[in-house]
Amino acid sequence: MAPTTAARTSAAFLLLIFLLAVVAWPGAAAAAAQAGGYRVVSVARAGGVLSARLQLAGGGARAELGPDVQSLSLTASLETDSRLHVRITDADHQRWEVPQDIIPRNPPHHFTLAASTNTSPRSRVLSAATSDLTFTLHTTPFFRFTVSRRSSGDVLFDTSPHLVFKDKYLELTTALPGAMASLYGLGEHTKRTFRLQRNDTFTLWNADIAASNVDLNLYGSHPFYLDVRSGAGAGASHGVLLLNSNGMDIEYGGEYLTYKVIGGVLDFYFFAGPTPLDVVDQYTQLIGRPAPMPYWSFGFHQCRYGYKNLADLEGVVAGYAKARIPLEVMWTDIDYMDAFKDFTLDPVNFPAGPMRRFVDRLHRNGQKYVVIIDPGINVNETYGTFIRGMQQDVFLKWNGTNYLGKVWPGYVYFPDFLNPRAATFWAKEISLFRRTLPVDGLWIDMNEISNFIDPPTLNTIDDPPYRINNSGVHRPLNNKTVPASAVHYGGVREYDAHNLYGFLEARATHAALIADTGRRPFVLSRSTFVGSGRYTAHWTGDNAATWDDLRYSINTMLSFGLFGIPMVGADICGFSGNTTEELCSRWIQLGAFYPFSRDHSAIGTIRRELYLWETVARSARKALGLRYRLLPYIYTLMHEAHTTGAPMARPLFFSYPKDVNTYGVDRQFMLGRGVLVSPVLDQGATAVDAYFPAGRWFNLFDYSLTVASVTGKRVTLAAPADTVNVHVAGGNVLPMQRPAVTTSRSRQNVFHIVVALSKGGSAAGELFLDDGESPEMGGTRGKWTLVRFSCETGRGGATVRSHVVHDSYGPSQKLVVGKVVFLGLRSPATRGELAVFVNGVKAANSTTGHAAILGYRRGGAAQVTGLSLPVG
Ligand code: NOJ
Repeated sequence: MAPTTAARTSAAFLLLIFLLAVVAWPGAAAAAAQAGGYRVVSVARAGGVLSARLQLAGGGARAELGPDVQSLSLTASLETDSRLHVRITDADHQRWEVPQDIIPRNPPHHFTLAASTNTSPRSRVLSAATSDLTFTLHTTPFFRFTVSRRSSGDVLFDTSPHLVFKDKYLELTTALPGAMASLYGLGEHTKRTFRLQRNDTFTLWNADIAASNVDLNLYGSHPFYLDVRSGAGAGASHGVLLLNSNGMDIEYGGEYLTYKVIGGVLDFYFFAGPTPLDVVDQYTQLIGRPAPMPYWSFGFHQCRYGYKNLADLEGVVAGYAKARIPLEVMWTDIDYMDAFKDFTLDPVNFPAGPMRRFVDRLHRNGQKYVVIIDPGINVNETYGTFIRGMQQDVFLKWNGTNYLGKVWPGYVYFPDFLNPRAATFWAKEISLFRRTLPVDGLWIDMNEISNFIDPPTLNTIDDPPYRINNSGVHRPLNNKTVPASAVHYGGVREYDAHNLYGFLEARATHAALIADTGRRPFVLSRSTFVGSGRYTAHWTGDNAATWDDLRYSINTMLSFGLFGIPMVGADICGFSGNTTEELCSRWIQLGAFYPFSRDHSAIGTIRRELYLWETVARSARKALGLRYRLLPYIYTLMHEAHTTGAPMARPLFFSYPKDVNTYGVDRQFMLGRGVLVSPVLDQGATAVDAYFPAGRWFNLFDYSLTVASVTGKRVTLAAPADTVNVHVAGGNVLPMQRPAVTTSRSRQNVFHIVVALSKGGSAAGELFLDDGESPEMGGTRGKWTLVRFSCETGRGGATVRSHVVHDSYGPSQKLVVGKVVFLGLRSPATRGELAVFVNGVKAANSTTGHAAILGYRRGGAAQVTGLSLPVG
């Protein structure tokens, strides 16, 4: 039917108003090019939930991408006092959403709208007295919304009226205040900088693309960013999650951010902060806290793709022992399998009996063993795992039959982990395999899913009208993975669930290990999604043995800390290509401080075990020596991560959010609150240009005072070949322990408490203790002890207090503090000046002679020895 003149006139009028509205919006330039947008036709409030119905305005936008959804529904709710949820979806048809069991959306705790609720003709405001976030629905002339911070009036999210909502294309743009906002996150990508750079597109579509490629979509999808604001109130931070598992491009232009998503709904969560630590706390409260990792997993790991046989493995273990370099975990890649079939052993090179004895020997020596498994199950009628999988009908379907892909073993079917039967099948196979070989953890690789075949693109599901920038050249979705038109359990399309595969496999593997061992699982997954941290650690994938990749590993590691996956590290010495002695030496100096510290390399490249070169061995002994000394601190950080989401490896601004100079620092990072790592990242360099935020900084190798400054300061640090610079900030108490070559032996040594005093003479820190392997870490059923240390100095000297906050861990041996080291005492301490209180009882200078001041060292360090710490 032809439109009437009146209708045409009103449509033209609406378009004019729309363009005016678009031009008035700060990010106009990006959005004005195309029309689009919705009008608000009704608004309602029930309890604390604001809901609105939106109607397509005018003729819609980008017709080539399909028809627009006519009617949308919006809900906004303040779910907690620090979390706002805004969801926009098709009002009349159900659409794909991330399943509830992946990210449980608890029954939200809605506030009642505050009395100040504004119902002006142009907007509706949702706010609550206890929430710093305010949601404003702008009703005139077109729909848009803003999220602001009530305490400062800062606008945090400010959408353009140019909203596009089609079946396979959603687009939404928000304005940003340019350089005043520093953004981090939106991964997984290898980036040249940790802070996101303007004019960049972040594509999310899990893919087996080597991590040595910068700026391409890689193995995981995390549509979450942290925004740290400069200017007045510098450091105010908030987080934004788009909870959506479909493929997407996120374009960042400095003044705007545009989401271009090929499915699902617009499901936004805003986290109020205001500190970066608050943001990750609030974020992981929604997506799930990071899984606790076993104590042993903080030891050093050695792996390689291409170990030839058992003798090769034994040689490596012996090589580490001979060189006196700590080796906690020996790994084996796909080489151990019989023709690359999961849950089998190569009968010639890795025969079952001798392998079992090898693992038993490792265990007797306090060491662990981890192997890889891949999702693809070889299609082979003589292979038990395949036969059982067929009987239980657990594989991914396509065109009415099992989808046939190809990976290492040749033709394979992939378990469909959305099918509950697949998790049961998987657990059974893991358990059966562990009867042959009692591995301590599992490494799940190739789970994007990686496929050596490019499936054909048959329809607009395989190749939707908007092609995301897959692989940097807009490759079809099917590129090197399973078809997007494949079908999961319950009729779920791979198109929608693709990015969830690694998450689901990690969840199934984690559950399988707990069920089989009764102990805390260790799972390492290449592919991840929002919430994967609940189940798995992550490594950054296939980097190259280059100085660039050494540098960029910090950016990825820090990003995963934001994503709630704190247990992360890169392949030390580089995976592909031949490393060099110098690169490997510098890499272990950095990698010794990755939360997950593993040396790994590709088949056909030169070997890079740390004992092979003397300079590398020296670096390893020194850097890993410090790591092992720090194990009690590092493990305490794991507990902090598990309970609050705090990353273990953190950018400097987490500790110094007000110092805007830290926002761009990504050649250094912090372990926890107080330890700063400043590695050499350039070939040939023997000095490091390091940034120190205001305060006092003590070298952790020799305890000397390196910097004392009331402002942040750049300092050139000497970094000769065997040296990595690691400092502790004044104000921190670090629980440390004398190192050994395994974590279990280190745990039997005496504690050293390092008290680094701030300028004001105080310090604080904590120590978490448990058996390191019970499934629960802390919590109500676990057995654990938490000791808080504090130190104050006054005229009488320093007073250290240890306060036992919780105490249900009964270790077999007595825990003894062998030494308390004070850094930064103002005047040389002498016997009688220093008082040490343990649990309120004066211990230093006590007549029992438990504590004695050993002396005053260079840089103002005094030591107390022989102090028994009755934490049990
Ligand atoms: C790809 C992984 O990223 C790499 O670490 C591994 O060595 C190979 N697959 C072989 O399994």
